[in-house]
Amino acid sequence: MRINTVILAAGKGTRMRSNIPKILHEVAGMPLLQHVHMLACRINSDITTIIYGHGGNLVPTTLSNLNVNWIEQKEQLGTGHAVQQVVPMIEDNDRVLILYGDVPLLEKSTLDRLLPLQSDNSVALLTVVLDDGTGYGRIVRNTDGVVQKIVEEKDATAKEKAITEINTGIMVVNGARLKTWLARLENSNAQKEYYLTDIIAMAVAEGIDIKTAHPNTNAEVLGVNNKQQLAYLERVYQSNKAESLMESGITIRDPLRFDVRKENLSLDRDVEIDINVILEGKVTIGKGTKIGPNTIITDADIGSNVTILANCVIENAKIGNGSRIGPFARIRPETELAEQVQIGNFVEIKKSKVAQGSKINHLSYIGDSVVGSNVNIGAGTITCNYDGANKFQTTIEDGAFIGSDTQLVAPVTIGKNATIGAGSTITSNTPEGKLTLSRNKQVSIEGWKRPKKKRS
Ligand code: UD1
Ligand code: MG
Repeated sequence: MRINTVILAAGKGTRMRSNIPKILHEVAGMPLLQHVHMLACRINSDITTIIYGHGGNLVPTTLSNLNVNWIEQKEQLGTGHAVQQVVPMIEDNDRVLILYGDVPLLEKSTLDRLLPLQSDNSVALLTVVLDDGTGYGRIVRNTDGVVQKIVEEKDATAKEKAITEINTGIMVVNGARLKTWLARLENSNAQKEYYLTDIIAMAVAEGIDIKTAHPNTNAEVLGVNNKQQLAYLERVYQSNKAESLMESGITIRDPLRFDVRKENLSLDRDVEIDINVILEGKVTIGKGTKIGPNTIITDADIGSNVTILANCVIENAKIGNGSRIGPFARIRPETELAEQVQIGNFVEIKKSKVAQGSKINHLSYIGDSVVGSNVNIGAGTITCNYDGANKFQTTIEDGAFIGSDTQLVAPVTIGKNATIGAGSTITSNTPEGKLTLSRNKQVSIEGWKRPKKKRS
């Protein structure tokens, strides 16, 4: 039997006060809707359909990489009307799972408990008990505790409003039965909407059991309706992530000041993370590596026993074992640092390879370069890689020593063990093992006097 997942995502999200459709707002660097889609993937949903509406084509075009069916609900006439749009895609034997596009934190483990409750003769419904159920549909049970129906807040009697068990909206229903119930929905209610929740009373009338489960935590079923709730769920997400990393042996100085975005992490034991660190995308960090405060690492492969000091920005780069980076270093895309490399303060490296043991410790720009092993690049060295139209490569061979305040005008090669005198502008290749410098001879002017201020 297929799991046929339907993600409801057509609603407007008025309270977001935004020009962007609600489900495209992000938690942990990913649109709300994408979190829900990832959950569908994790439970091996066989077919997944997203019902979109508000925001029009912006939603499917922004998330065109998702492997789903997109169905537009042109008018939002209620959750039942939304699911009616999917009827052509529902087969009789399907187990139809309803998810909400604005509920991003639902866990796989919760669905693993919910799905088995559904059968040909039972509907599985995820409910939760709140201190105050205001705004939600209430789960009405009979005196034996058997679910009878769901009543929406606006249609509820005072007695029903006092019920604290509420409908999360998440349910699993047999395909054939769902289709017959959807066909019978009416909108004769307070909101003049086609309520999906009305199928519960229809099921009960046919002798179908309503089996309920609860999520592990209430945050899992919270939806986002405004920016405050968006920030709250972001925090819950980040706390959960920090918790599970610490569980796996990562030291996080302060879990309240640690963020993961577009999560795809692989961190080894005894990685230490200081405060205000953001890890984004595919980040691999080897054992014993220490990340200093205020550092952003995006799509990077960091070796073991690396020290990254405070205030570094590292993106799409590879950093070898035992290297030391920062403070205040910027490692830009397509940079590969081998083992034991040192990159110091105010150094920017772009699209360059630096071999083992080389040091670029102060105030330098190294771009489009190949740097050999045990090279020492002095303070204020600049590879002039760009002539305003094209980029050129600088090659610095093993053991070279580049004096401070040097410009290497690419394309240029500095030979093995060559030394470049400080303050040079190097425009052609330099020989191996020799000192090369381009510098005016120093002169001192005899009898020169400092000018004095004129008297008026
Ligand atoms: C719904 C439930 C309510 C439940 C609550 C949980 C119904 C009638 N009520 O209420 O029992 O407690 O969710 O949050 O189902 N949507 C569409 N098309 C529509 C209407 C809604 O795609 O025409 C989507 C929304 O984008 C949202 C979800 O369905 O993701 C729920 O819609 P919303 O309006 O928030 O439902 P509620 O009225 O709050
Ligand atoms: Mg509503």
